[in-house]
Amino acid sequence: MSMFKVSLICSLLLVVFGAARGFLGRGDAFRRKVSVELNPGLAPPLSLPPGVGLVHLRGLGDNDTLHFVLCNAGAPALLLVHSNSTRSAVTVDWPEFINSSSAGSLRVEPESSITYSSALVFTRLWEYDDVNNTADPQKAAESSFYPPYELQNFIWSELNTTLNQSEHTVVLCGGEKTQSFSNGSLCLQVSVFESQGRDEAWPSLLHNANSSQLRVWINGVTPRGNNSRFILEFQSVGDAGFQSRVDMRSSIDDEYTPSIFKVSEWVSSPVNSSSVWGFSQWKPVAYRKARPVFEDATACRHSELVFVNGTPPSAVIQAYFTHNTRIYGLNISFGLAEDPVFYDATKYISWTVLMGLGDPPSDSFSPLIIIIITVGLVTPLVFIILGGVFVCVRKRTSQSTAYEPIN
Ligand SMILES: *[C@@H]1O[C@H](CO)[C@@H](O)[C@H](O)[C@H]1NC(C)=O
Ligand SMILES: *[C@@H]1O[C@H](CO)[C@@H](O)[C@H](O)[C@H]1NC(C)=O
Ligand SMILES: *[C@@H]1O[C@H](CO)[C@@H](O)[C@H](O)[C@H]1NC(C)=O
Ligand SMILES: *[C@@H]1O[C@H](CO)[C@@H](O)[C@H](O)[C@H]1NC(C)=O
Ligand SMILES: *[C@@H]1O[C@H](CO)[C@@H](O)[C@H](O)[C@H]1NC(C)=O
Ligand SMILES: *[C@@H]1O[C@H](CO)[C@@H](O)[C@H](O)[C@H]1NC(C)=O
Ligand SMILES: *[C@@H]1O[C@H](CO)[C@@H](O)[C@H](O)[C@H]1NC(C)=O
Ligand SMILES: *[C@@H]1O[C@H](CO)[C@@H](O)[C@H](O)[C@H]1NC(C)=O
Ligand SMILES: *[C@@H]1O[C@H](CO)[C@@H](O)[C@H](O)[C@H]1NC(C)=O
Ligand SMILES: *[C@@H]1O[C@H](CO)[C@@H](O)[C@H](O)[C@H]1NC(C)=O
Ligand SMILES: *[C@@H]1O[C@H](CO)[C@@H](O)[C@H](O)[C@H]1NC(C)=O
Repeated sequence: MSMFKVSLICSLLLVVFGAARGFLGRGDAFRRKVSVELNPGLAPPLSLPPGVGLVHLRGLGDNDTLHFVLCNAGAPALLLVHSNSTRSAVTVDWPEFINSSSAGSLRVEPESSITYSSALVFTRLWEYDDVNNTADPQKAAESSFYPPYELQNFIWSELNTTLNQSEHTVVLCGGEKTQSFSNGSLCLQVSVFESQGRDEAWPSLLHNANSSQLRVWINGVTPRGNNSRFILEFQSVGDAGFQSRVDMRSSIDDEYTPSIFKVSEWVSSPVNSSSVWGFSQWKPVAYRKARPVFEDATACRHSELVFVNGTPPSAVIQAYFTHNTRIYGLNISFGLAEDPVFYDATKYISWTVLMGLGDPPSDSFSPLIIIIITVGLVTPLVFIILGGVFVCVRKRTSQSTAYEPIN
């Protein structure tokens, strides 16, 4: 009998839970077949300079293909090209690409199948001495900025050793031959996904098969000031018919990224239209340790978008975009005002951004939150109903007793 009750309660809970999940949780079953290739079509005697490589990450859908190309010839860049054909391919004219990266030396063919292209380029790493501890580069005196590190001049480790075919990831680590970078590195990890999910590591952004993730970390760099903070400068390149804006949205769920309730979205839409075709998305948080605990979280803020004239110093951008482009620049600065912990404390900062096609993924209530809400709503409701019934019964019996003396 009691077993029956337990199973009844369980199945009731499951029904409520399932309904809530169906209503709130947009389960996404969309999948792509992902493959990774280093320097497609490059054969001896041709070769790239040491440490330079081009990685093609392909996400094959039922009726389309999403191509990602990561290249560190010049400033490191990630190019996204969506094609509505399953037979599209990335072709590189290697002699041209190596010699001058002239426009058209990297193509996605057939060209008529391309529906959307965009790219992110990491251009500079800025450092400033935050003597007033505002963590706001806008408020810092110009004299407190050090000469920036130009990422196009970095020397990178070999890509073939950091390519993980099973995880669909690749890591780029580089630095300068300077005093301050002698023990340091700037690394970029790119991941491409077959289906929806989250990384275990914070900020555990929700990704899907239409997105790739870039994690950037700056490790072991000797700061040039006593109160050094860093700024990462990057640019987006898109077709001239598209415009960008950065929105800050509230996020409902902080179970995956503790204490962060906001998400920033840099979206691209056709001029005169509000429909979103591509995005970059991040949470305004950075971490001061490779394996962070709660206290290692710090803030990041983004600057205003600015128009940029001239093509970024990246071979893959110069080689791919033959048509008119629109280029925006953005700075992400790390650190929290009044926070006495500067870069020096841990000599580490990491930040993660998602780049993809279509609308940015949005957090829905997680199973844990749904259970909490369900329990939180249902329990008082039960008490209210029980209370109502009790009051009714009491009223009836007291009323009937109240009439009794008339007899
Ligand atoms: C792919 O195309 C076929 C035929 O045009 C269509 O039936 C199918 O729904 C499409 N699949 C997706 C995932 O769009
Ligand atoms: C390399 O490019 C230059 C111009 O940028 C051109 O003059 C030269 O012929 C090219 N060399 C080869 C081998 O293609
Ligand atoms: C693929 O995209 C091109 C360019 O947007 C378009 O002209 C073509 O009709 C599309 N083909 C299919 C099968 O959707
Ligand atoms: C510190 O703040 C003061 C007052 O706002 C400002 O005049 C000064 O330039 C700041 N110093 C630096 C190095 O940013
Ligand atoms: C990676 O490339 C370098 C230089 O091209 C080569 O010396 C090395 O053996 C390669 N390593 C692997 C694991 O393929
Ligand atoms: C790829 O990553 C997985 C999981 O992190 C690891 O087990 C595997 O050894 C990696 N493979 C290579 C070739 O590094
Ligand atoms: C690099 O690390 C070594 C060993 O930890 C240390 O002796 C040296 O001072 C460091 N160099 C810089 C520029 O911090
Ligand atoms: C991913 O892109 C494909 C093709 O444009 C689209 O059919 C699908 O709905 C998208 N999935 C998500 C989760 O945005
Ligand atoms: C950093 O602080 C030390 C000791 O407080 C001081 O001697 C040094 O001049 C400061 N360096 C800079 C660049 O301000
Ligand atoms: C956008 O709209 C403006 C005015 O409404 C018009 O002048 C312009 O040509 C339009 N641009 C495009 C690309 O449609
Ligand atoms: C980034 O910050 C540096 C230093 O303040 C500034 O010179 C540069 O113009 C900024 N870049 C963008 C894209 O805002």
